[in-house]
Amino acid sequence: MAINKSDYIWFDGKFVPWDEAKVHVLSHALHYGSSVFEGLRCYETAQGPAVFCLNQHVARMFRSCKIYRMEVPYSPAQVAQAILDTVAKNGLRSCYIRPLIFRGYGEMGVEPRRSPVQLVIAAWQWGAYLGAEAMEQGVDVGVSSWRRMAPDTLPAMAKVGGHYTNSQLVRMEAAEHGYAEGIALDIFGYVSEGSGENLFLVQDGVLYTPPLSASILGGITRSCVMTLAREQGYEVREALISREQLYMADELFFTGTAAEIT
Ligand SMILES: Cc1ncc(COP(=O)(O)O)c(C=O)c1O
Repeated sequence: MAINKSDYIWFDGKFVPWDEAKVHVLSHALHYGSSVFEGLRCYETAQGPAVFCLNQHVARMFRSCKIYRMEVPYSPAQVAQAILDTVAKNGLRSCYIRPLIFRGYGEMGVEPRRSPVQLVIAAWQWGAYLGAEAMEQGVDVGVSSWRRMAPDTLPAMAKVGGHYTNSQLVRMEAAEHGYAEGIALDIFGYVSEGSGENLFLVQDGVLYTPPLSASILGGITRSCVMTLAREQGYEVREALISREQLYMADELFFTGTAAEIT
């Protein structure tokens, strides 16, 4: 989806004009995928713009950094405040927000720890991720021939730039086959998730979703949906899902900050 430019990007503690937010071509993250990011949405409410699950996103970002031994030069509270400041500085009422922590220009080579840890935060107006009609009419999806990464290869629960080469393969294959999105299985053949969304299945009034051990990202929307569904009296089961259950289901839906509930 196209990016609607805003005015400013928060860059290592300062606001810089959108077009001047640049990095060196030898930045570590460009070569080795050494970045951690989040995607948040801010919604217009009667009390003003509100960032959905701000603290949960910041906490996940710090957990992702911990796995990759990235020492963030800010506290979670400072990052949360910087996110709010970025929305306000750009005068946005509702938007998508992308904080990115990355290894910048330092040394060349796989060992990341001699390259500085930097933080940028961008925010812009963004529509429905899987298409304007997707929320009402649903989308066509297919099971991907690409599997999610094995648990002892890349840590799926960390939201790290390099992991998204797997998502890109799933997404491109889906598009080539005429689907809006692909569903990846884990290495054991059980259902995992979409390229950028978690998946729920509804069967006989019960909600099923793959467990964290099925190589999924622990989605914040997934967790909200589970809480809200249980509050509404629905049974929600985190359980391994076999491929045939997808075809037998009464309903499937994706959850994610970008796709919302589609
Ligand atoms: C691979 C993947 N799975 C699931 C999700 C959904 O996570 P969340 O609901 O926290 O946005 C995302 C989006 O961040 C994702 O990239």
